[in-house]
Amino acid sequence: MVKVKLTDKLDSDVLVVGFGTVNKKLKIESGASQIDTTSLLATLTAMGATGKADEIIKLPGKTSRLIVFTGLGEIESSIEPERLRRAAGAAARELVGNKSACFALPNKSVVEISAIAEGAALGCYSFTEFRGKSKDDQKAPLTQVSVITKFADTSQAKAAAKRAEIIAEQTFLVRDLINTPPSHLTPNTFSLKIKKLASKYGVKVEVLNEAALRKGGYGGIIGVGQGSSNPPALIHLSYKPTKAKKRFAFIGKGITFDTGGLALKPANGMEAMKADMSGAAAVMAAVFAIAQLKLPIAIDGWAPLAENMVSDTATRPSDVITIYGGKTVEVLNPDAEGRLVLADALVRAAEVGKKAGGLDAIIDVATLTGAQVVALGTRTSAVMTNDDELCNQFLSATSISGELFWPMPLPIELRASLDSPIADIANIGDRMGGMLVAGLFLKEFVDPNTPWLHLDIAGPAFNTTDPHGYTPVGGTGIALRSLVCLAELASSQS
Ligand code: BES
Ligand code: MN
Ligand code: ZN
Repeated sequence: MVKVKLTDKLDSDVLVVGFGTVNKKLKIESGASQIDTTSLLATLTAMGATGKADEIIKLPGKTSRLIVFTGLGEIESSIEPERLRRAAGAAARELVGNKSACFALPNKSVVEISAIAEGAALGCYSFTEFRGKSKDDQKAPLTQVSVITKFADTSQAKAAAKRAEIIAEQTFLVRDLINTPPSHLTPNTFSLKIKKLASKYGVKVEVLNEAALRKGGYGGIIGVGQGSSNPPALIHLSYKPTKAKKRFAFIGKGITFDTGGLALKPANGMEAMKADMSGAAAVMAAVFAIAQLKLPIAIDGWAPLAENMVSDTATRPSDVITIYGGKTVEVLNPDAEGRLVLADALVRAAEVGKKAGGLDAIIDVATLTGAQVVALGTRTSAVMTNDDELCNQFLSATSISGELFWPMPLPIELRASLDSPIADIANIGDRMGGMLVAGLFLKEFVDPNTPWLHLDIAGPAFNTTDPHGYTPVGGTGIALRSLVCLAELASSQS
């Protein structure tokens, strides 16, 4: 866990400052720190530094042991918070092996302080649990980051620092869960871990095991999980503040490994399917963060968990299953499993929400389709909805969180491709527009009067290439911050 502090002067032997270009000329942005930039600029120029994003240059310092320059790119009159967040994170990542660092990036308001603190903290991640002999070769990340600001004494800035700690703690939980291999993360171990954490954060938790799911009629979760010797489960977290302004339900796809089932995926790249529970991890951690922040929003967090395996008990293409609530689905492709477990959870979440007085929003988060990655790439997630107002509010939340989401349509014309000759609906339709078809499938399990968002995070959930900004290789933690920002936005409304 990383500590986040505020300071009005250098308090570490490592100083991080920004640099970039103004009209192609290098410029140092050292915020509230007082450093003499003239000779440093000459050195950077002589080194051929460019100041581009993700460029890090370390030099011996005068007042500090190390001075670290982190690229901000072309500098305009103001620097967007996400650029500061990424620059702080990139520097933090490069500082493994050091204990603490002091971040002197430009900040004029609490929004910028918050971004710098968050980025710096998010960059302090490592995952070494499964290193054996090579564990000692791993340099540890920073354990403390401080942000130099002239607002260090204000209560708003202090709250931003505390918040950054919470965001980092919960993002690290999401990343850890994603990175944990399926040999060690099963629906059962996932549930046990969440149970423990729920009691730590004072959040109510209930876990339905396989027998309870079968008895309860959760045909989606049972059908997907039945090919595995690791039985499925459904986690329900509930956070109830005393005076709740709104009630949200978050639902995350929790496939602890997706082989594709009898529609077996190719071996090449299958290892990335350990990340197919990223949605579940994000929503569990979002509930914890919202509880830690004591936001006045009641949240139910749901994680339908199953392992999609190949065996003689696995669902066959053409099997028909019955989703919670009674709709039948012809499983034409057992690799389209996420929508099946989500369907059960969507119906159940609405039922529980209704009993509690009605849901203001129901939001599912899922690594649902390869089509999402084809359409938007690995950095931008998709959002689909039945309610433009909620979607716009979510997009405002993402502009604060810095996470990239883009709205996608749910064209009614594609719905007929999901018709089944024998059941209420089939689990696959047109291949073209596969992300939207998956969204249309889910929509069938949502009450049209309840504002709903479907977040497809298939690409951004798991980084298989290079680290960048505050994002490591492996689980990224995408969606957590936007869910928290959405709850914060809803908290500040009357
Ligand atoms: N978990 C996958 C989607 C996925 C693909 C996530 C790549 C992350 C990266 C999902 O269960 C899946 O297999 N979807 C199929 C659906 C198809 C059979 C309709 C897909 O996208 O190919
Ligand atoms: Mn699949
Ligand atoms: Zn999947």
